[in-house]
Amino acid sequence: MSDRRFEKLLSPIRAGVHDLRNRVIMGSMHTRLETETNGIERQVAFYRERAHGEAAVIVTGGFAPNAEGMFDPEGPRLDDPQQALSLKPICDAVHQEGSLICAQICHAGRYAKFEGCVAPSPIRTPINRYSPREMSEQDILHTIEDFAQAALNAQSAGFDGVEIMGSEGYLINEFTVTHTNKREDEWGGSADNRHRFAVEIVRAVRDRCGPDLLVIYRISAADLSRAARPPKRSPRSPARSRPPAPTF
Ligand SMILES: Cc1cc2nc3c(=O)[nH]c(=O)nc-3n(C[C@H](O)[C@H](O)[C@H](O)COP(=O)(O)O)c2cc1C
Repeated sequence: MSDRRFEKLLSPIRAGVHDLRNRVIMGSMHTRLETETNGIERQVAFYRERAHGEAAVIVTGGFAPNAEGMFDPEGPRLDDPQQALSLKPICDAVHQEGSLICAQICHAGRYAKFEGCVAPSPIRTPINRYSPREMSEQDILHTIEDFAQAALNAQSAGFDGVEIMGSEGYLINEFTVTHTNKREDEWGGSADNRHRFAVEIVRAVRDRCGPDLLVIYRISAADLSRAARPPKRSPRSPARSRPPAPTF
């Protein structure tokens, strides 16, 4: 590509110790190819093709940092170092094409489609029939540790970086938003408290993996979730006012 309109976009840039061939990043997309026969080979072909198209950084679909964080019981995980190593051919293929690759780490939180999913507060989402269990302080500390370990596993497998999924209503986002975080301990309430989980995860990943790992943090520009509906009113109760507009 050599269009002057995109000169800046297509020019190289340095990020930490990494040279990016341009400023184009392919966003995260979970393909479910890992559930198919020859899943690794298929993913190698998929990501090699994207790198051949010259995206400087490719972000994989979300990997859970632990069992509770999977989207569904078949979802991909990064908590087992050996299993993570099986992803090395994907990294090698992308590197051969001159691009970098980051593994997305996404904890599904209350969106996980199984009994025993977890969230900062026990508030079910309308798009899931399973109600989450409220995380204990121990759960929170373990999960931070699991993010750090998942990042290290990715790094050992050859990934240049990780993307921490902090948006779209998944676990980290559930901590930051008041509608889904009703905690009264140091992980809820004030903005600082609601963001503590995210900050501690980024800190733990950086501490565990060192300065060379690219760390991307995905954030929602707007949180469009509504507060949980109030209970149905009885015929005698006074008329209800309009539901509050979503807060941003
Ligand atoms: C099939 C599919 C899978 C996706 N998987 C992920 C994912 O694993 N993690 C993530 O952060 N976003 C995921 N997304 C969201 C995309 O990153 C992107 O935000 C979304 O497609 C909107 O961008 P677009 O308007 O360019 O399509 C997925 C989107 C699609 C269509």
